[in-house]
Amino acid sequence: MNFKEQLIRNQELVNKELNKYLIKEDLPEAVLNQSIEYSLMSSAKRLRPTLIIETYKMFKDDYEKSLPFAIAMEMTHTFSLIHDDLPGIDNDDYRRGRLTIHKKFNEATAILAGDSLMNRAYMIIAREISKSPNDEESKRKIRILNEFSRAIDQMIVGEYLDTECEGKQISKEELDYIHNNKTGAFFKYCVRTGAILAGANEQDINKLTVYAEKIGLEFQIKDDILSEIGDAKLMGKPVGNDREMNKVTYVTKFGLQKAEKYLEDITDEAIQTLETYGEKAQFLKELAIYIKDRNH
Ligand code: IPE
Ligand code: IPE
Ligand code: MG
Ligand code: MG
Repeated sequence: MNFKEQLIRNQELVNKELNKYLIKEDLPEAVLNQSIEYSLMSSAKRLRPTLIIETYKMFKDDYEKSLPFAIAMEMTHTFSLIHDDLPGIDNDDYRRGRLTIHKKFNEATAILAGDSLMNRAYMIIAREISKSPNDEESKRKIRILNEFSRAIDQMIVGEYLDTECEGKQISKEELDYIHNNKTGAFFKYCVRTGAILAGANEQDINKLTVYAEKIGLEFQIKDDILSEIGDAKLMGKPVGNDREMNKVTYVTKFGLQKAEKYLEDITDEAIQTLETYGEKAQFLKELAIYIKDRNH
């Protein structure tokens, strides 16, 4: 199976699993649950859950065990997007090819749908911990829970600074700090979770963390570029919005050409960190290239 086929297979797997967690009962809060389904089950790349699954597979075959963590991550990522799009933050009208949840439903529903998704993610992880068959597995999952909370905290810090810095001049270090927090933290969490859950040793976990840090920044540099020159139809979200909001991005700070050079360089660096793994890391290597070349 080539990279693209494997990516599609993972997306289908994640969609099928997510579907199991949707609440479809005729309850008084049915509209809240519909709004969650609206945001969650839209055209998304599912890259973060894919990273958990594929990193796990580098060390162990029974990837089904990573699925609850993969699903919890996608719920959390979706929560972050819902709140990111709100009028008080980026004020965007389109996401994943459709109207943003606050436009389709209303702002209160969007805020609460986001809260609910984050909470459900914690519920899934808590259940996984309680199901651990032995102390060792339980310890690994508690470590993951700690890293999960930390990653969300970092995302929030990144989102806060991203909003606060609109219209300001900031240094490359400050910009990288924002990007590494708002986007990089989740990528790092995903790779580390796959490895920790599969019982990888600390040396491997550390090595893969460097890869994850690189692709996290790579991903956001590409997002900055797409926000400038992407095709809104393909992306399913607006183009030109960063500039409109006076955001500091790799493109507004360095210009398109230099941003593309940074993107190339960091992609190469990410791939280099995987050198010693050979075939085992083929998917992760191709993922770094996919992130650089994607048009959505
Ligand atoms: C968008 O993430 C938000 C950023 C961190 C830049 P994705 O591009 O992975 O969004 P979906 O999940 O595929 O919609
Ligand atoms: C979104 O960052 C990152 C998070 C939601 C944490 P952006 O605001 O740059 O991403 P898009 O362009 O809206 O997807
Ligand atoms: Mg934003
Ligand atoms: Mg945004």
